[in-house]
Amino acid sequence: MPLAAEKIITRNWGRPDSWTLDAYKGTGGYATLEKVLGMQPAQIIDEVKKSNLRGRGGAGFPTGMKWSFVPKDSPKPKYLAVNADESEPGTFKDRYILENDPHMLLEGIAIASFGLGVHTAYVYVRGEFRFQAERLQKAIDEAYRAGIFGKKLLGRDFALDCYVVRGAGAYICGEETGMLESLEGKKGWPRLKPPFPAVVGLFGCPTVVNNVETLAAVPAILQKGADWFAKLGPDKSGGTRMVCLSGSVNRPGVFKVMLSTTVRELIESPDFGQGMPPGRKVKAVIPGGSSAPVMTADELDVALEFEALKQIQNMAGSGGVIVMDDATCLVRSLWRVSRFYAEESCGQCTPCREGTPWMTRVLRKLEEGRGEEGDIETLLNVAQSIAPYPPMGLGQTICALGDAAALPVHSFVVKFRQEFEDHIRLGKCPFGDKPWGHYGAMTA
Ligand SMILES: Cc1cc2nc3c(=O)[nH]c(=O)nc-3n(C[C@H](O)[C@H](O)[C@H](O)COP(=O)(O)O)c2cc1C
Repeated sequence: MPLAAEKIITRNWGRPDSWTLDAYKGTGGYATLEKVLGMQPAQIIDEVKKSNLRGRGGAGFPTGMKWSFVPKDSPKPKYLAVNADESEPGTFKDRYILENDPHMLLEGIAIASFGLGVHTAYVYVRGEFRFQAERLQKAIDEAYRAGIFGKKLLGRDFALDCYVVRGAGAYICGEETGMLESLEGKKGWPRLKPPFPAVVGLFGCPTVVNNVETLAAVPAILQKGADWFAKLGPDKSGGTRMVCLSGSVNRPGVFKVMLSTTVRELIESPDFGQGMPPGRKVKAVIPGGSSAPVMTADELDVALEFEALKQIQNMAGSGGVIVMDDATCLVRSLWRVSRFYAEESCGQCTPCREGTPWMTRVLRKLEEGRGEEGDIETLLNVAQSIAPYPPMGLGQTICALGDAAALPVHSFVVKFRQEFEDHIRLGKCPFGDKPWGHYGAMTA
């Protein structure tokens, strides 16, 4: 049976000039905004709540609930900050939304802004996404010319401005409060929470932060109804989702999947990954971007859904599924992941600032054949002092980058300890000079 999900966000991809206003309008674009402008703002928030839409940026927080935290009686302006930073290793879906259908995001922004009473929206675009930022800007210009943005939202007495702000290539600026700092023109240092951005956000004002994919799903919810969206997923998660499949599979890419799709189905289905390269088997999979704990080949029958992954002490995260085959050195892979977090730590919190380079040094030592007895314990101790595990999520740091750095270390070492011990026993990497597996899951 084919597993490919109903196309929602991707419905226009592949059509000629799908990124233009004409093409978007040609398939019914902005009709939902027109309809929504006849509703009460509170009804919009209720619909999104009922739809069970959960944030696609990493934490999976219920979107309607987040929107309802914005104080209605605040005299301050309210802001919408759209997270297009997309820097989580293994995640590459939002860039395709910006490239292929920026107007779907813009319609989501306009609907959300009307519902929330927001008159200024910012889209914070990852610095490296120059092409995507330019295409988005062109779409915004078209929307201004068409009377969507500007002083009168589709002729109504509601002003809405939308601006693109480009980051400068820092992963930490994808963390929502780091992003707000950066939007304010400061160094992207995450803030202590509470207060949460919905109450004290950009310039000290109530601010909703949402991921690109989250907002791009909003027009379809308001067009087809919350019940339709909610029923596509299990109890607590509505809709379908986009996953980014990379590493050792025959067909890597971005796929639209039902939330009931399992990791195994994603890898093996002819609709998605089309299986492993010849002669190779799955050794390990990271299911939700490199911040998620690693899974063993025995855990692949779990659905790519928030609650299902939580039940096995894992996370759906940002949808970045990285597959590593049996020719991949996991010490090398973990070293690569750890180096990323060490480089991207903002340095505010001692456990993260000191712990991430420490873990990287130990991993390098193991991979280069200089490992000694006690190194594995050191690695686990350092990870434990950044973020205790299990249970996960008990970070000791201002933001979750600390957790993100520690969770892979805990899980790789606990689930694949033998491979770490082999490096010490042999005094070298057992995978020789080709540690990256068939297609190279994590090269560099
Ligand atoms: C270190 C770090 C980096 C993050 N990077 C991103 C990112 O690039 N894009 C994103 O949407 N969310 C990212 N997040 C999650 C955001 O903090 C936030 O939860 C999300 O943007 C909220 O949107 P959502 O509710 O629609 O998912 C990151 C979180 C952390 C801790």
